[in-house]
Amino acid sequence: MEKYPTKNQKVIDWVNEIAAITQPDSVYWCDGTEKEYKAICSQLVKSGTFIPLNPKKRPNSFLARSNPLDVARVEKRTFICSEKEIDAGPTNNWAHPKKMKKKLGKLMKGCMKGRTMYVIPFSMGPLGSDIAKIGVEITDSPYVVANMRIMTRMGKKVWTVLKDNDFVKCFHSVGSPLKVGQKDVAWPCNPENTYITHFPETNEIISYGSGYGGNALLGKKCLALRIASSMARKDGWLAEHMLIVGLKNKKLGLSSYVGAAFPSACGKTNMAMLIPPKSMSDWEVSTVGDDIAWIKPDKNGILRAINPEAGFFGVAPGTSAKTNKNAIESCRANSIFTNVALTDDGDVWWEGLTDKTPSHLIDWQGNDWTPDCGKPAAHPNSRFTAPASQCPSIDEAWEDPAGVPIDAFIFGGRLATNTPLVYQSYNWQHGVYLASTMGSEKTAASEGKTGEIRRDPMAMLPFCGYNMGDYWAHWLSMGQKISKKPLIFRVNWFRKDADGHFIWPGFGENMRVLEWILKRVNGSAAATETVFGYSPTYKDLNWKGLSMTEDRFDELMSVDKKIALADVGAQREYFKTFKKQKRLPQEFEAELTLLEGRLK
Ligand code: OXD
Ligand code: MN
Repeated sequence: MEKYPTKNQKVIDWVNEIAAITQPDSVYWCDGTEKEYKAICSQLVKSGTFIPLNPKKRPNSFLARSNPLDVARVEKRTFICSEKEIDAGPTNNWAHPKKMKKKLGKLMKGCMKGRTMYVIPFSMGPLGSDIAKIGVEITDSPYVVANMRIMTRMGKKVWTVLKDNDFVKCFHSVGSPLKVGQKDVAWPCNPENTYITHFPETNEIISYGSGYGGNALLGKKCLALRIASSMARKDGWLAEHMLIVGLKNKKLGLSSYVGAAFPSACGKTNMAMLIPPKSMSDWEVSTVGDDIAWIKPDKNGILRAINPEAGFFGVAPGTSAKTNKNAIESCRANSIFTNVALTDDGDVWWEGLTDKTPSHLIDWQGNDWTPDCGKPAAHPNSRFTAPASQCPSIDEAWEDPAGVPIDAFIFGGRLATNTPLVYQSYNWQHGVYLASTMGSEKTAASEGKTGEIRRDPMAMLPFCGYNMGDYWAHWLSMGQKISKKPLIFRVNWFRKDADGHFIWPGFGENMRVLEWILKRVNGSAAATETVFGYSPTYKDLNWKGLSMTEDRFDELMSVDKKIALADVGAQREYFKTFKKQKRLPQEFEAELTLLEGRLK
């Protein structure tokens, strides 16, 4: 056998260089086969990282429990390392590449001692698609290898596509070397020394100290959003924190794909797999992606999108047959569960999964759990890793290398007050501005005053790999590069009444809003010009099967002009830092002035 499975000298040199620094016991080149996956899972069972689930209930599936200090993405430890601080912008942590590499170099010395170093070739996007990108992840975590096999197209075929081209260098280590004879723990990590670093000018990622989710599965947030957003700016496309969903109604003659951006944990996976209410069963909804979209103009100037991922890394709590049947079906087998609870018959459980809570469980930390113990059984950020191909609503074109044509973009935050259910932007520029000001109200659990808005432009706040002001300018310029601009909408599923109750039922009922959006796309729905944009009136929405009075709907759509004017002031304040850096598009200042005029 040849020593290396690839002839790409850049890969070989990099792997050898990293091995010399990190000093693993051995180097293993992943081939991506089923046989290899099985062997890695067995090894994880043997080492205590994986608990095999009852094969009758959950075939070929495993539960992992992380260190309680390593349970989520760590934004405070996430850095964009561009040569100039201004190019990372005011929303990112910044460090100079040389300085950061020096610091990481020290940590990396011997950091894989006692471990195997895995080399994972992977493609984000269908292999060979001209929208796809190739990465190579080096990791000392077999848990990461198993997850990457579900989340990406991983394996030896990637070398054939890569040839001797460049790739994104993704280095990952749990940062926990073993001394000779030292017994390993089930979840090695190094929380005090965690760094998730990105080098957009050289297409590199170095992640150290965490084994969890987006910190460690480097294809996802690190490559497909932070590095890709920077590549996309250079090459004239978009890398977005968006689901992609297909919506078809043969009776109405409507068929479109839309991209929708919501901040983390606002129901993106639910919308990607939406099941319309019975009264709207003439609609077919299909899933292309649930978290990330790469969107590129084709040769005719039409924006086409691919889902760069191959699996779902979904939040488990709250997911049930009622809220998201397709997600439940997707993880019925061949899945990895992290930080959920274990039932007495060897299956998984989390808050919200069933109406009836089991009387006894083993919680996410491995302790006995009963409903009266006052603690959640599953961690609030516990996850399922499931193959997208197992999703019953998966779209027939989800692996089409050419991508699917996008007719509309939807942007939504989580706002209890003053933001209507839906409105359409007047035009592309206004839509980009609307997306840049989206956000969620701060809750008692987060810093700041309750009710204050935490801006999350395009839901990209933690994921934009460069200056957010330049990102807005890039979005504006994309409007010039395409022949058919998708319509842009703002939605808000989370409006509350004076008693604190949600006014809108959400979930499958969101189909009513989507129907109006699609009818706006084909020009068959009416709208009224309002201060915020084009809005539906009561009669413009399909109410068959849902009781919603006109008064209640008006409450859902109402705008208090005084509050909106105060928000214009807050937006100006938010934009100030970008303006000081001379990175605020002047188009946004024009939009603010226009909005102010409409409100006065
Ligand atoms: C995710 C996130 O995990 O957005 O998808 O945090
Ligand atoms: Mn996400």
